[in-house]
Order: sequence, then C-alpha cells, then structure tokens
Amino acid sequence: MRVDIVTIFPAFFSVLDVSLLGRARQDGLLYVQVHDLRDWTTDRHRTVDDTPYGGGAGMVMKPEPWAQALEALLRPDGTSTLVVPTPAGTRFSQPIARGLATADHLVFACGRYEGIDARVLDWAAERCRVTELSLGDYVLNGGEVAAMAMLEAVGRLVPGVVGNPESLVEESHEDGLLEYPSYTKPSTWRGRSVPPVLLSGHHAAIDEWRRAQQLERTRRIRPDLIELLDHDAGAAGPGVPRS
Ligand code: ADE
Repeated sequence: MRVDIVTIFPAFFSVLDVSLLGRARQDGLLYVQVHDLRDWTTDRHRTVDDTPYGGGAGMVMKPEPWAQALEALLRPDGTSTLVVPTPAGTRFSQPIARGLATADHLVFACGRYEGIDARVLDWAAERCRVTELSLGDYVLNGGEVAAMAMLEAVGRLVPGVVGNPESLVEESHEDGLLEYPSYTKPSTWRGRSVPPVLLSGHHAAIDEWRRAQQLERTRRIRPDLIELLDHDAGAAGPGVPRS
C-alpha cells in the first residue's frame, strides 16, 4: 500500500520510523511519504491560510496549495482514496479501517486551523473517493494525530504487517465486542489468581468463558456496541448469543 500524507507539520510523523509500521516500511509492505503543504505555495511567506468569508474566529486553509498538492499526488486514474481527518467527519471505526486497508493508495490531508476551504473536497471528489473521518467527539488542533492513529489502525491490517494474523482476529472491535481479559505467568501474583478455567486445558470451556467475558465487559463498558449488534442481527440474521 502506498500512503501520502500532506501536512504543514511533517515532523509529527517522525514516529513512523519506529515500531511495527517502521518495520512494515522497511519490508516494503507500506510505502509512506510525508509532504509539506508549504512546498505547494507560491508566495514569499509560503502562506497556507486566510481569514474566513462571513467572519468568525480562526483561519481557513487556502484552496490553491491543496489543489496543487492533490494534483501532484492523486493518481490520474481515480484509484486513490483521499482521507480527511476532521471532527466533522464520520466516526472512524474498525470496519472503516478494514475497508481502507484494501485500498492501494491513500492520501491523508491534514488540516489545521478551522479546516480546509470546503470547495477543495468537492473538487477532489470529482477525481477520487473522498472520506472525511473523525477520531471521536472531541477536537484536536489538527488532523496530524488523527491521521497517525488511522494509519496505524489501517496499516496493521495490511497483509504481512502483523506477523501472526490470528492475533488480529481476537481483538476488541473485530467481532463488534470488546476483548476478553488476558493473563500470563505467574498463575498467582500478589495474591491474585488467574481464573481457574484458563489453567484447565479444556478448550471449549475456555472459549465459552472468554465469550461470556466479552459480553459482560461490553455490556458494562460499551452498551452502545451491544445495541449495534442487536440491530445488525435483526437486519441480517443471527448475531451475538444472549447469555
Ligand atoms: N481534527 C481535529 N479534531 C479531530 C478529530 N476529533 N478527529 C479527526 N480529525 C480531527
């Protein structure tokens, strides 16, 4: 997968060299390039923002540097996907990450200030798929941190990036539920014992216990996820077993 990131703060992305994504880049599974939006400005001050029409606080990112950047980066055959992190977007989720992981080319447009002139996204939508995504219902100073989070969530789903693909299956959100609790040695630690079923060697009982833990945890911490599953089950057949 090829990923281009456009930002006025390229330094934010230096962390891409470390950890799992760093190795994926070295292994040639992910090809990530970070670009400075100011490289597509033409004035002496390398200006990327201006005051909003209609008044109001803050600054808006000017359209032309973005158009120049996207004209340089988007594939002419329309196969790129433009991802715009914004608190005004669709909530990012594991299913969305799975969808993006099948793309061949992602371009992240990291806006700052009050966002990018709205005409840019309409213009881009005539050239590629455009998706505005929010990390959650809170406001960050810009799209950079959100793009990093999305890239990590998407990148680890690209085949080969995570060494053991089985570890991707039994994770929170993969089946719409939170993950069950995990334990390692020693079996008793500071007076606290591991649930005995996990030491039983009885795989069916362990699976059943883990499923019950997932359901209990999800009901307690994220009841909204259970409602979603019930809704999907109503629409598309059997869903989570009720306990
Ligand atoms: N930019 C600013 N806040 C954001 C958020 N919550 N999600 C995605 N991008 C953002």
